[in-house]
Amino acid sequence: MLHTTPGPNFRPDDPGEGHSAPDVGPCALVLFGVTGDLARKKLIPAVYDLASQGLLPPTFSLVGYGRRGWDHEVFVKEVKESVQDYARTPFVESVWQELARGIRFVSGDFSDPSGFRRLRDVLRELDENHGTAGSYLFYLSVAPKAFGVICEQLSQQGLARSGRAAWPKVIIEKPFGHDLASARELNRTIETFFDAASVFRVDHYLGKEAVQNVLTLRFANRLFDALWNAEHIDHVQITMAEDIGVDGRGGYYEGVGAGRDVMQNHLLQLLALTAMERPPSFTAENIAEEKARVLSAVRIPADLSQHSARGRYGEGRLGGQKITGFLAEAGIPADSTTETYAAVRLAVDTQRWKGVPFYLRTGKRLERRVTEIAVVFKASQHVSPSELNSENALVIRIQPEQGATAHLSSKVPGRGMEIRDVTMDFNYSTAFSEESLEAYERLILDALLNDHLLFPPHREIELSWQVMDPIERYWAAAPGAPEHYQPGSWGPASGDALMTRDGRSWRRP
Ligand SMILES: NC(=O)c1ccc[n+]([C@@H]2O[C@H](COP(=O)([O-])OP(=O)(O)OC[C@H]3O[C@@H](n4cnc5c(N)ncnc54)[C@H](OP(=O)(O)O)[C@@H]3O)[C@@H](O)[C@H]2O)c1
Repeated sequence: MLHTTPGPNFRPDDPGEGHSAPDVGPCALVLFGVTGDLARKKLIPAVYDLASQGLLPPTFSLVGYGRRGWDHEVFVKEVKESVQDYARTPFVESVWQELARGIRFVSGDFSDPSGFRRLRDVLRELDENHGTAGSYLFYLSVAPKAFGVICEQLSQQGLARSGRAAWPKVIIEKPFGHDLASARELNRTIETFFDAASVFRVDHYLGKEAVQNVLTLRFANRLFDALWNAEHIDHVQITMAEDIGVDGRGGYYEGVGAGRDVMQNHLLQLLALTAMERPPSFTAENIAEEKARVLSAVRIPADLSQHSARGRYGEGRLGGQKITGFLAEAGIPADSTTETYAAVRLAVDTQRWKGVPFYLRTGKRLERRVTEIAVVFKASQHVSPSELNSENALVIRIQPEQGATAHLSSKVPGRGMEIRDVTMDFNYSTAFSEESLEAYERLILDALLNDHLLFPPHREIELSWQVMDPIERYWAAAPGAPEHYQPGSWGPASGDALMTRDGRSWRRP
């Protein structure tokens, strides 16, 4: 029960809640893909932010592995710049100096055994001189095709399972596979070298406070808990809209598309949290079990031509700027059929959700950047539809700001009985004085602490691919390119038609 067994937001060691810092213990974080976009903008700054909040031990070490011929000084300078440009917390010289003492760089290609021998020697040196005690966390911030070779190379140097490392763990970035078969294959490869319990698969959405709060909002408030079922809920809309395009990552995005890049992971994770049953206790295992149960109950529509949509942005204008169409982006071939917008109606085949559609949509170059879960309640039976000019909904806002809004019907002041939509808002930035950790801070810290709660286990990833595979197959076989949409719009006409066909419409967040 939530009130007797601490849930994700009630854990006594949660540093975001003003409690004492958890004991990470000595360790080295080895970052593969250290020169990449994610490392520079998110991971390195997150390490500094953890250090500046006193959440890393003095023995902590950050080791970068990259193929550039950098020396130590160049790497330290690069790390410092990334911290100064992107860290959330202010730059403090003493924090930086302490962190810098444990920074090392190893130059090598992923396919180069001598690079991994140098890495092993550097880790030994750190064990002896910096107190890292053989505890290594390998963060694979690299393209999925490199996961296998890195794990194998680590294993050959005795840095993976049954090697000399006392505490080898590995974090794998998304996307985890391209479909069910490749995800299974990837898992087999990784688990050949690392124990299943040492593998942390990142879905950085789960690191966000508002996402963790979905379970608390649902289960700790009778107001919602009591109404969270097909009797009261009309439908659920889950949106992840971006105003950016492929942002220089065309090479990665081509052949992946919105379905695999976002729907398979972030959106299905949000669906699982919204639809899962209450676990017997809020442990990583029990929550994962309930999420898996709900993902296995997800059903795709029989007729995907009516209940799914995919689109591709053309050239146009957004926010006063000229936008290059997707086909003209670097790394995108002229005959590309990759979608930048995807929407689908899903069902959850359980008693609780009988007849309640879950609409998922995601897209790039849409009107604005917003991620939200909107739980739309059925209309009141006591007010006639002609009087009711509003919609009861609970909107959990995940991005750009985190919080929740209840949309309620209220009487307009005056003698008449006009009803209008009003909102009750809760915003993290104003409701709490405690600072919350940024998603990657939280995930790195949790992996260091060996806490799996916010990392989807392999079974969840398989189940998500089981949902996505037939949808992707249908899209791949559908004739023609994805439907055109204007940058700054809310996607293609077929995305809207999917809703109007059901007598509903997408929210305009
Ligand atoms: N960027 C994001 O916002 C984001 C968000 C979510 C998930 N992810 C995932 O995170 C991972 C990394 O993304 P990213 O955007 O940082 O990618 P990226 O910018 O393309 O970086 C890839 C990194 O891998 C290195 N690399 C590639 N081949 C190598 C080789 N043979 N030997 C040594 N190093 C090699 C690159 O080194 P060079 O610099 O030398 O080329 C670079 O540091 C991907 O799995 C991606 O899907 C990224």
